[in-house]
Amino acid sequence: MQFGRTTLSKFVIEQTRGQHSEMGALLIDVAAAVKTISALVGKGALSGYSGALDSTNVQGEVQKKLDVLTNEALLRHCEWGGQLAGMASEEMDEPYRIPDQYPRGRYLLIFDPLDGSSNSDVNVSVGTIFSILQRETAGDAETADYLQPGDRQIAAGYAIYGPSTMLVLTVGSGTHGFTLDRESGNFILTHADIRVPEETREFAINSSNERFWEPPVQRYVSECKAGKTGIRGVDFNMRWIASMVAEVHRILMRGGIFMYPKDSKDPAKPGRLRLLYEANPMAMLIEQAGGAASTGRGRILGVAPEDLHQRVPVLLGSKQEVERVERYHQEYDSGTDRPFVSPLFAERSLYRTENSNFQ
Ligand code: AHG
Ligand code: MN
Ligand code: MN
Repeated sequence: MQFGRTTLSKFVIEQTRGQHSEMGALLIDVAAAVKTISALVGKGALSGYSGALDSTNVQGEVQKKLDVLTNEALLRHCEWGGQLAGMASEEMDEPYRIPDQYPRGRYLLIFDPLDGSSNSDVNVSVGTIFSILQRETAGDAETADYLQPGDRQIAAGYAIYGPSTMLVLTVGSGTHGFTLDRESGNFILTHADIRVPEETREFAINSSNERFWEPPVQRYVSECKAGKTGIRGVDFNMRWIASMVAEVHRILMRGGIFMYPKDSKDPAKPGRLRLLYEANPMAMLIEQAGGAASTGRGRILGVAPEDLHQRVPVLLGSKQEVERVERYHQEYDSGTDRPFVSPLFAERSLYRTENSNFQ
């Protein structure tokens, strides 16, 4: 046992002293919820909570028992302390009103209680993602209070429930990782000031959607796959875990790019991931670690939300790679991705064809 290591409580009290000291208490409650969820998902099939329910959430996705239970864990751990004006979650159609018996504060807590929940029954890493915003005064929040661009987040973080449980957090000055010491029950600062490596040779995308992607994403991925034989001149590796938390964690640890881009699979959905409780908190963590997070056509943190459950294209990770895919979007939008072709030859660009879905 080592004494004198930095616990999460010590870290947040020191980091939030002064302007956001009440938020420090809230973060400690979030960490308590995360420990409860870690114990629950760590039991696996022994918990008796595997499998799906008959219900669907507001996005029409089948809810798992664990989606609902982990949502409850966050509500119960965080509703009582007097720091919150309200909470919103992937699993609740409307924002949660703080019960009458508890005082109200000015912070808003938004979360995805169980990210990657399709992986929970197959014993692959899952997580919890959260974002903290604030309103000007204490009191019950309206839906409109939650619709703030990610740039206004005061704090963001995720927990990953893998071989070890970690909590990765930013309060606006760097991204820091804490590992749960299961014997003492403390989160210990083990990864101070995480930096995303700028160069990478690893990409993550669900390539079963390839035919629905826009040409700039098709171009980028085909260049990665061409490896040494293509214009990149170097071989790439690919990973897809289907838990955003696990993908982002890998990128924070060893670099890479993660993409869930816009696609034409369902025109009603401009992306798969949700802006307020998946894309924004991850974008803040990645930017605070020196990486970049984009929709392909601008910073994720600059997007003005219109809806609580709005979806957004997500490209995040090592800066050079994200900037490259952004450039491919610009070139596609301005038509300059067409290589020069002589009018004598009736050739067309590889990436922009006359019958493209995206013109
Ligand atoms: P959730 O389990 O909260 O609905 O989120 C799952 C998300 C994200 O974690 C992951 O990157 C993505 O969905 C996986 O999507 P595919 O199943 O399309 O690969
Ligand atoms: Mn999710
Ligand atoms: Mn979820």
